[in-house]
Amino acid sequence: MKTSNSKTKDRFRLEASTADRLGICLFRYQLSPKERFLAVNRTLAKILGYECEKEIQACTFKSLFKNPEDAKEFFRIIKKEKIVRFHEALFKRNGKEEVWVAITAHLTSSSDKKTQRIEGILEDITKHKELEERFAFEKELFQNLLDNLPDAVYFKDDKNRLFRVNRFYSDGFKMPPEEISGKTDFDFFPKQQAQKMFDDDTYVLKTGNPIIGKIERTLLPNGTRNCVTTTKIPLQNKKGLIVGTMGITRDITAYDQLEKNRLNMAVTSLKVLDRVLEIRDPYTFGHTRRVSIIAERIAQELGWDENRIFELKMSAELHDIGKILIPLEILNKPGKLSDLELKLVQEHVEKCYDMLKPHGFPFPMPEAIYQHHERLDGNGYPRGLSGEKIIPEARVLAISDVLEAMTFHRPYRAALGIKKAAKEIRDNAGSKYDKEMVNVTLKILGENNYNAFWLKQEPSI
Ligand SMILES: [Fe+2]
Ligand SMILES: [Fe+2]
Repeated sequence: MKTSNSKTKDRFRLEASTADRLGICLFRYQLSPKERFLAVNRTLAKILGYECEKEIQACTFKSLFKNPEDAKEFFRIIKKEKIVRFHEALFKRNGKEEVWVAITAHLTSSSDKKTQRIEGILEDITKHKELEERFAFEKELFQNLLDNLPDAVYFKDDKNRLFRVNRFYSDGFKMPPEEISGKTDFDFFPKQQAQKMFDDDTYVLKTGNPIIGKIERTLLPNGTRNCVTTTKIPLQNKKGLIVGTMGITRDITAYDQLEKNRLNMAVTSLKVLDRVLEIRDPYTFGHTRRVSIIAERIAQELGWDENRIFELKMSAELHDIGKILIPLEILNKPGKLSDLELKLVQEHVEKCYDMLKPHGFPFPMPEAIYQHHERLDGNGYPRGLSGEKIIPEARVLAISDVLEAMTFHRPYRAALGIKKAAKEIRDNAGSKYDKEMVNVTLKILGENNYNAFWLKQEPSI
């Protein structure tokens, strides 16, 4: 007949062999009256680097902990709670590196409290801990990177709501990141500007295409304007579905200003030449400035951005600078020009192009000027370009130039008037001039009751 003790041993053996097959460690430990292992399975011996179970049984449970403080904490909890679940601890490993274990155990006491035992299981979680540490390290690295970047970084959900921002972003709005969470660009920027940002986010969400290095001029809450370059990319979940966007915005105001200053210097020196032309040829006095005013108004109506309009205005200011090289007696000749004289006048576009091209402008100013006498049907000059080959800037310049020229006196004719100028562009919409641009121009003229608004307005550059 088997004793209760031997029955318990049999049960443990049975459980131990199952646990060994599953790679789980089992142990029974006597806490009092004398601390000792009553039983352990082979897997526990193996993960702690022992040859056999008996070698562990010579140790105390406490001695297995790498750090005595951890052992104290374990015993404090189990004595108080009678149970521990997935208690993580670093154990010594016989002759090798340490091993991370998760202990799940319970404490039993005899009725007289003289005998206390701990029974439980142990799992080797070293690999899991290594992954966890690596993940924590990478998370910290990522956070460090985010917090030390001198750029605004933000993450938005599929409703374009911010859910995480970096320190630079939150410092910029003087608001803690947790308060920013849930807000949208409409909470920080003027409505029109926020709408553009919203549309860009929606584009990235819907198409999965990134927006790389978009240059934007933004109005900040403190009323100042800055120039930024923004990149937005889609955020995907594990299944590859787009669940949000990530953006990074870099302030390039200083660089932008530097570029503008450089450009302004080049343009100013060219404008000096333009003024010389005006002095030489009083009939064209103010022509380029007035063309610039008309071109600006058309471009605004077309919805062009601020930067493109600025570039267009500079092109308008300089579009006839090549005339400085045309003999004055031809420019100011009353009456009809001979074929040769006409050819010489027409050369002003090429001469202008040759003057501007070496400056390497970061936008198509030389080309816009080169094309301002081209017509959609190919009957313009100097290259007889047609249709889409004529860039939009040149098409705006063509309309603005004609409108201004026809409403002003010339040596060879009196001013023709705004109605005739409007008729010229209306009759030739789609053949000589861009149809959409003509419609926009006629709309503007109508809004101004066919008064030449370019005569009253001061240019802004
Ligand atoms: Fe011209
Ligand atoms: Fe002109």
